[in-house]
Amino acid sequence: MDRDKATAIDTLQGPGAIDLGRSMARGYFITFEGLDGSGKTTQLRRLAESLTTKGHEVVTLRQPGSTALGNRLRAVLLDSRSETALGPLSPMAEMALMFADRAQAIAEIIEPALARGAIVLCDRFTDSTEAYQGGGRGLGSERVLDLHRAICNDLRPDLTILLLPSLTASLVRARRRNRRSVQRDGKDENRFEQEPDEFYIRIHNAYETIAAREPQRVVVLRDEEGDSSIDGIELRIRALVWDRIPALSPS
Ligand code: ADP
Ligand code: TYD
Repeated sequence: MDRDKATAIDTLQGPGAIDLGRSMARGYFITFEGLDGSGKTTQLRRLAESLTTKGHEVVTLRQPGSTALGNRLRAVLLDSRSETALGPLSPMAEMALMFADRAQAIAEIIEPALARGAIVLCDRFTDSTEAYQGGGRGLGSERVLDLHRAICNDLRPDLTILLLPSLTASLVRARRRNRRSVQRDGKDENRFEQEPDEFYIRIHNAYETIAAREPQRVVVLRDEEGDSSIDGIELRIRALVWDRIPALSPS
């Protein structure tokens, strides 16, 4: 398993399989969003552990990836060498592949887990397509939201945690992490990280627009608004999850 990522599908069941009295109820769908290197994967793991310890069934996944089809698509979409073999990927094709990945993950993982009452934690969802392809590639939000309605049945997360450290901090962390993983296991997922800073500024702006449009769903965590250490952000996330979804609070 890739040490730095929530790979494939992870299903965690807490100790003693506590019956929380909601096994027949629909679960909760929580997504993590932000720029590359914003800390999503780290925080998703920590929240998964904390909820699992409380006895919840937690299913984690990431996009693109996590299904057999999704992992193939991930390799095409993220490996910076794939375009040498396949030729330049058009922005429309890139967006369509992101949605193909998502449709498969919804059918195979997300909907079945929600139907049995699990908490689904997803590392990126349609906000990423709106930010990266809609904003970064300039395809526009409307096209992405139309596709989301058509292909994903307009599935909405109950809560989206948007991590927004400074652009510089995110990119430095993501590039450092990816250099390490190339050196460590020859894995190259740098296709997006090679884009210029202007691409990421557009993505950052698109995330701000999404958060302003949907404050009920999207909670933004900025470094300057509290303790920005990994532990500090973990505590801020726990508090906001309990606040927004009281059914998950330990008390
Ligand atoms: P993402 O999934 O958003 O790309 P990661 O969770 O993989 O981000 O984090 C990228 C790198 O930054 C990792 O090496 C991680 O340890 C580090 N990191 C994550 N959160 C913080 C933080 N709050 N402060 C400093 N470094 C962090
Ligand atoms: P990943 O390594 O999972 O993210 P991170 O670097 O934040 O840990 O890489 C996923 C990349 O794919 C990331 O650069 C964002 C991009 N992406 C899109 O462009 N559109 C999408 O719809 C999704 C889900 C991801």
